[in-house]
Amino acid sequence: MNAPQSTFKIGGDTEIQRLGFGAMRITGPGIWGAPTDRAEAIRVLRRLPELGVNFIDTADSYGPNVSEELIREALHPYDANMLVATKAGLARSGPDQWTPQGRPEYLIRQAHGSLHRLGVEQIGLWQLHRIDPAVSRDEQFDAVRHLVDSGVIRHAGLSEVSVADIKAASKYFKVATVQNRFNLGDRGSEDVLDYCTAHGIGFIPWFPLAAGALTRAGSLLNTIALAHQASVGQIALAWLLQRSPVILPIPGTSRLKHLQENVAAGVIALSDHEFTQLDRATAQRRQG
Ligand SMILES: NC(=O)c1ccc[n+]([C@@H]2O[C@H](COP(=O)([O-])OP(=O)(O)OC[C@H]3O[C@@H](n4cnc5c(N)ncnc54)[C@H](OP(=O)(O)O)[C@@H]3O)[C@@H](O)[C@H]2O)c1
Repeated sequence: MNAPQSTFKIGGDTEIQRLGFGAMRITGPGIWGAPTDRAEAIRVLRRLPELGVNFIDTADSYGPNVSEELIREALHPYDANMLVATKAGLARSGPDQWTPQGRPEYLIRQAHGSLHRLGVEQIGLWQLHRIDPAVSRDEQFDAVRHLVDSGVIRHAGLSEVSVADIKAASKYFKVATVQNRFNLGDRGSEDVLDYCTAHGIGFIPWFPLAAGALTRAGSLLNTIALAHQASVGQIALAWLLQRSPVILPIPGTSRLKHLQENVAAGVIALSDHEFTQLDRATAQRRQG
């Protein structure tokens, strides 16, 4: 198997390198407050363009605000091809506390706040972080449509959704991306990934490095990693990149060493046999 296509066009027009960066980990413990090593967090962010990474995923709730503010401090003015994607829809009350908040006026206010914190005239990709079960789904989608129509955001995406949610949202705006938890050891969103692949929607798998029991010594993943002189995390990323051309992994790290290792996974090409072996070993029952 050849190395997969390295770029993807979000919303059909915004070209990015598929292997991006998740900026949730450049905050304090519990994704709360400032990072323990602020200087290293800034170094990680500044290294991204040097490594060719031009897709960063963040959210208003990471810190809160801390991740967006650090991105601006480290990278503004942004390179013309840099896409900083953000989200709103989860409110924070303390470390590890996340509460869905989908009132339309809240979502619109938060998107304006991100615009200001990131220092951009328009947010290239904004994602509804969660559909709030306490608010009508249609009202939340209508707020997203308002953000697109008013030019605050260029492209819109969803997070932690079903195929039915994507279809319902598509009546309000063009769904450019979907961000669901997905990795070698957690394949619960296969149906959503297949839908995104069929419709050219970017699929952003969060927690991409997790591979569960597969990382045990002597496991298949370990054997394949040894054969490529790679780490198991790098093989987990290479597998994602080969699984579908719409997959846009965003491994997150607060350390330069880990960033460099993760980006290097972009050039690993698994053989057809290795890919199939891993796929079979990890496939779980699909969710309906
Ligand atoms: N939509 C959502 O609901 C949602 C939820 C969670 C996350 N996300 C997004 O997805 C991104 C990725 O998710 P994630 O951070 O949970 O999972 P992840 O990227 O799979 O894993 C991150 C963890 O792995 C460690 N790590 C990273 N690279 C490593 C390496 N090369 N070697 C060893 N350890 C390494 C990091 O610690 P170090 O800092 O020590 O490297 C961190 O603890 C986030 O940054 C965020 O943007 C979205």
